[in-house]
Amino acid sequence: MTPKKITVPVLRARKGKGPRIAMLTAYDATMSRLYDEAGVDVLLVGDSLGMVVQGQPHTLGVTLEEIAYHGRAVARGASRAHLVGDMPFMSFQVSADESVRNAGYLLKHGAFEAVKLEGGVDVAEHVRRIVAAGIPVMGHVGLTPQSVHAMGGFRVQGKTDDAAQRILADAKALESAGAYAIVLEGIPSDLARKITLAVDVPTIGIGAGVGCDGQVLVSYDMLGMFRDIRPKFVKRYGEHGDAIVASVARYVSEVQAGDFPGPEHSFGEVQVKPAAEATGQAALPSAGGGYGPADS
Ligand code: KIV
Repeated sequence: MTPKKITVPVLRARKGKGPRIAMLTAYDATMSRLYDEAGVDVLLVGDSLGMVVQGQPHTLGVTLEEIAYHGRAVARGASRAHLVGDMPFMSFQVSADESVRNAGYLLKHGAFEAVKLEGGVDVAEHVRRIVAAGIPVMGHVGLTPQSVHAMGGFRVQGKTDDAAQRILADAKALESAGAYAIVLEGIPSDLARKITLAVDVPTIGIGAGVGCDGQVLVSYDMLGMFRDIRPKFVKRYGEHGDAIVASVARYVSEVQAGDFPGPEHSFGEVQVKPAAEATGQAALPSAGGGYGPADS
């Protein structure tokens, strides 16, 4: 039986009831197929791709076209998961009109089903306009990586009473503007729990403790593939970076020693069929498909 497609109403119905929403970032079709098969509910093409795919120190250089490009790839790999595209820095801050146009671009050219954007009170009117255009919006408050320079680095937010009140107000403004879910990033657990109780839409935490309606992680972090930093809130579910280095090092040494390829990886002599010789037709390629010959 085909598993039930995860949609905006399916996610909203889980508020307060569960099961908790499991969300991961994805950037290509090979990985999104694996995450989808594993049962991930929401796949986000995050602007974290600037750091973990492009090797930049922050997310600010990522473009709308790049998010759309990765979105098309992710969509080809996933059939069940709900697909969300991150609106990059300066694609939604300038005006409501530009925000609607750019959110529409991501749905048209990125195969997304929703967009995510950072900010609260300041962008609430833009969220309202995007939602009015029929585009579901996921909010994102607390530690908002696109404000890295304003925050003076990637720091936990909402530690004073005033700062906590502002983040709560941001979340409520997004809810009133029509956001269907809100990412809470890098805030104390008690604040995340308070926000989760205060809004009627699911909250999805990252570095926000145990009281949220769901969780999100950068997939390369939880798989142990992005090893530059190791934030406290990341649990590594595998050391796949180490596994890749070990596999590739074995390949390198086998190639250097002449142990790979062996006869079992080599094609035999070409057998020209008499009928093809007689008619002058070329022998048909095998039906293996793919990007190389399937047999000898
Ligand atoms: O860009 C991203 O990957 C994100 C998630 C970490 C929430 O915004």
